[in-house]
Amino acid sequence: MTRREHPRQNQADKPDSGPALDTGNLKKQGAGNHCFQSGTGWLDFLADHAIVPGMLMFSRFGYELSRRFWTEPGGTLYGRKVVLTGGTSGIGKAAAVMLAEKKAFLTIIARNREKAEQVQQDIITRTGNPHVDVMLADLGRMQDIKQVARQLRDTKKSIDILINNAGALFNERQETSEGFEQTFATDLLGVFYLTELLKKSLARSSGRIINVSSGGMYTQKIAVDDLENRQPPYNGAKAYARAKRGVVILTRIWAKELKKKGIAVHAMHPGWVDTPGIQRSLPGFHSLVGNQLRTPEQGADTMIWLALSETAARSTGRFWLDRRPHETVVFPGTRETEKERQALWQKLHGLVFELP
Ligand SMILES: NC(=O)c1ccc[n+]([C@@H]2O[C@H](COP(=O)([O-])OP(=O)(O)OC[C@H]3O[C@@H](n4cnc5c(N)ncnc54)[C@H](OP(=O)(O)O)[C@@H]3O)[C@@H](O)[C@H]2O)c1
Repeated sequence: MTRREHPRQNQADKPDSGPALDTGNLKKQGAGNHCFQSGTGWLDFLADHAIVPGMLMFSRFGYELSRRFWTEPGGTLYGRKVVLTGGTSGIGKAAAVMLAEKKAFLTIIARNREKAEQVQQDIITRTGNPHVDVMLADLGRMQDIKQVARQLRDTKKSIDILINNAGALFNERQETSEGFEQTFATDLLGVFYLTELLKKSLARSSGRIINVSSGGMYTQKIAVDDLENRQPPYNGAKAYARAKRGVVILTRIWAKELKKKGIAVHAMHPGWVDTPGIQRSLPGFHSLVGNQLRTPEQGADTMIWLALSETAARSTGRFWLDRRPHETVVFPGTRETEKERQALWQKLHGLVFELP
């Protein structure tokens, strides 16, 4: 299927409500709705407002410092259905092991069957948790997402937690077989589509959505008129940061929309993490700061904490680093307007649900 041949979706593929046009007045929601307030401690202030210490907080050092103030949430995820994308490498692979150790009933969505089945076997052997399965989809292809969401819905089981972790930074501008620019397709449109298609399954269990964003998003404002990065010159880091900014905006919109269904929605930043992804896409950065990078387990920590913690269930719409909520806008000119927020939603919705 190409975007020009996109068939109308049948009813089952539609989201359970129309586009969330009422994205308004999020700023006015205030403390009651917990939307994107920064934490109030000095660590949060440093991370958000001082560039050099802020960058340090993304490193291994930031993790080690922050964890001194943590207490571990108790309990397990036994019997809870967790759907995780990108569980075959880096942060997602570490998260998959950690979720299985917490006894989650885990479904990993991955694009490479051999790699996915190997990871599945490794996790089962290592953790003793037999409830780990795999579903196949290239998350940059909307047709694959539609199919995998249908398979998940066909099980009639509710989903307790959806973790949108898969993502990539592409240094060359390329289009997918469906004609979408690949950063946009994988890091933003695919996240939007999968989540929209699984909202009903999440609502059945008053579930949680955890979106993996990046500190890189601080550097960019969303470009609603150039979502597919057509304006030359193409810059992979910029395209990635814009998509990750988009994920943070969607988190905020979903938080408001899904609150009435009891679904909590959060975005998180894993910090700077030593993964195959970062080695491949940012080799210079990797060799420069390699020994300061976090381990994949450290990068996955906040994701797992968001899955387990009661704090995460009681609040919604926040952006987290090291188990603490943080601001989403730091640099001047990077805050989107309400009109841009609505335009983003409508464009994404139009691309996956309304093309003739
Ligand atoms: N590493 C960091 O410092 C850092 C910082 C901020 C945010 N993040 C974010 O953290 C997440 C994980 O990144 P990572 O560093 O762990 O990268 P990674 O090692 O490259 O792992 C990425 C995972 O996503 C999967 N994936 C990528 N594109 C996909 C597609 N089209 N369809 C299906 N699966 C796909 C990969 O599958 P394959 O195994 O098949 O490749 C892999 O499982 C990403 O969202 C990334 O943007 C990372």
